Amino acid sequence: MDEDTPDDGAACPDGTPRPDGGTERAEPTEDVALDPWGSASVGDYADLFEEFGIEAFDDVADDVVDPHYLMRRGVIFGHREYDAVAEAMANDEPFAALSGFMPTGDPHIGHKLVFDEIIWHQKQGGDAFGLIADLEAHSARGMSWSEIDEHARNYLLSLLALGFDAEEGEIYRQSDNREVQDLGFELGSKANFSEFEAIYGFDGETNISHMQSVITQTADILYPQLVDEPKPTVIPVGPDQDPHVRLTRDLATRVRYFKVTEAFASFELDDDERQLVRAAYDALAAGDGEGEVDDAETDVRCEDAAEWLADYEPPETEAGDGDDAPSLDLAAAKSTALDKLRAGGKEPLRPRVRFFDRNATDEAFEALIEAVEGDKRVFEGHVDAFELTRGEAESVAREVEIDHGGFGFRQPSSIYHRFMTGLTGGKMSSSVPASHISLLDDPEDGYDKVRSATTGGRDTAEEQRELGGEADECPVYELYAYLLAGDDDELTKTVYSECVTGERLCGGCKEQAAELMREFLEDHQEKREEAEELLEELDIDLDSDRRGTGGEH
Ligand code: TRP
Ligand code: SF4
Repeated sequence: MDEDTPDDGAACPDGTPRPDGGTERAEPTEDVALDPWGSASVGDYADLFEEFGIEAFDDVADDVVDPHYLMRRGVIFGHREYDAVAEAMANDEPFAALSGFMPTGDPHIGHKLVFDEIIWHQKQGGDAFGLIADLEAHSARGMSWSEIDEHARNYLLSLLALGFDAEEGEIYRQSDNREVQDLGFELGSKANFSEFEAIYGFDGETNISHMQSVITQTADILYPQLVDEPKPTVIPVGPDQDPHVRLTRDLATRVRYFKVTEAFASFELDDDERQLVRAAYDALAAGDGEGEVDDAETDVRCEDAAEWLADYEPPETEAGDGDDAPSLDLAAAKSTALDKLRAGGKEPLRPRVRFFDRNATDEAFEALIEAVEGDKRVFEGHVDAFELTRGEAESVAREVEIDHGGFGFRQPSSIYHRFMTGLTGGKMSSSVPASHISLLDDPEDGYDKVRSATTGGRDTAEEQRELGGEADECPVYELYAYLLAGDDDELTKTVYSECVTGERLCGGCKEQAAELMREFLEDHQEKREEAEELLEELDIDLDSDRRGTGGEH
């Protein structure tokens, strides 16, 4: 039998069917770090939820009408606000998917995950975008323009071969997309160096073009919203790209003309305080609890609410008690809310939505005031509207912004997939050819690499029959789950259960996988040849006559 997968704390595949609970959590080993230009490995995916606020994909999976196999198998493990995209998809509303590829080498089976994710969203009706991150490859990886051209071509052929519809969707190079450049320039005016230092560890030695490539990526991520209208957009990527996603989500907000919040009186409340003041308002406005509350007719004053709140015990939240416990510190919020209410004195408490002028032009602010329907009050720098819901207010704000030359962006969403384990154990690395399979590998070489892959098998056949193999630790099982089984869940389930029960031995299992890999590569490469023609027809310059430095070698 084969040697065991070395336990290097790298990605632990958690494929279909998931092990029945209780696989022991690995000791928190490496520091969690998400570095877009560092090594693509993650010690423990669960840490990413707590450390970075990435959400578990499981929480949103039920909202996806017909989930992709990578979603069903836990390969896509995390997301940010994917609910917005799932909802648009379910309701036939506009949405988009975009991802980008740094043309630093050959596309391999890890990139295929992302190609597939874009293509799937396109088939679900989304606007789809695939871009070549040539500015990043040149500035962060020192690739020369001719190398970039060649690699870019290979990425695009594979993307097309896998089914990307370039007539419906859009493919571009960062360097050739003037709108992206302009958007990046605009976004860059809302970001500064200290922030790049904090997020990416940039310092005085970091080259300026590298920084420019970062701001270009934030523009890439928001670019789909320039086409037609702002819309939910998903960025399928590995978790190493999350810093870019977080920055872009921030910038998308910072460039907005208006900020919409909910308030009860002239003063501001934070989220926790608002929850308490709402409780006070609801209790007092409802009187003895009968009938609907008519906001306009209640006569609750700030001081009344203060009195009520003083005796109110906020619900306790136990720290660390499961995933669902809100991280609210209502006790602290109670004291600050009380101060604000007491200072409000006799001012009436009335729920309202508030529009702050953040970046609006004077005309846009005037137009907003016009556009707010019903009872409203205009202040220096903000408008309170008494008859709009939060949702209605958001739409008015967005419409006015777009009519007056703003972007009206929504925050982009993201989904994160697990990194594949290398075929030689450890991480998959393009610098170790045996550890990964390139989409350009000779099918026979692909076959051979799978045949000689590390497995989760036992030392002897006898032991394997007795104990079963460790499919969860097996790069070959991963190949089935991430790629070879395609949409066929039965196959992954069979391999998994036959493996862990000891019915399946690694020799035969690898032979089957190796043959599937050979077939996949043969088929894919045939399709790449057919895609040559499609690529020719596209308006993409793959013979850039850019001058520049030769790159670092
Ligand atoms: N930084 C990405 C990488 O290293 C490439 C990239 C550029 C990208 N722009 C993007 C990824 C926009 C997703 C979305 O591969
Ligand atoms: Fe062996 Fe296949 Fe099980 Fe991996 S999945 S341990 S190769 S039997």
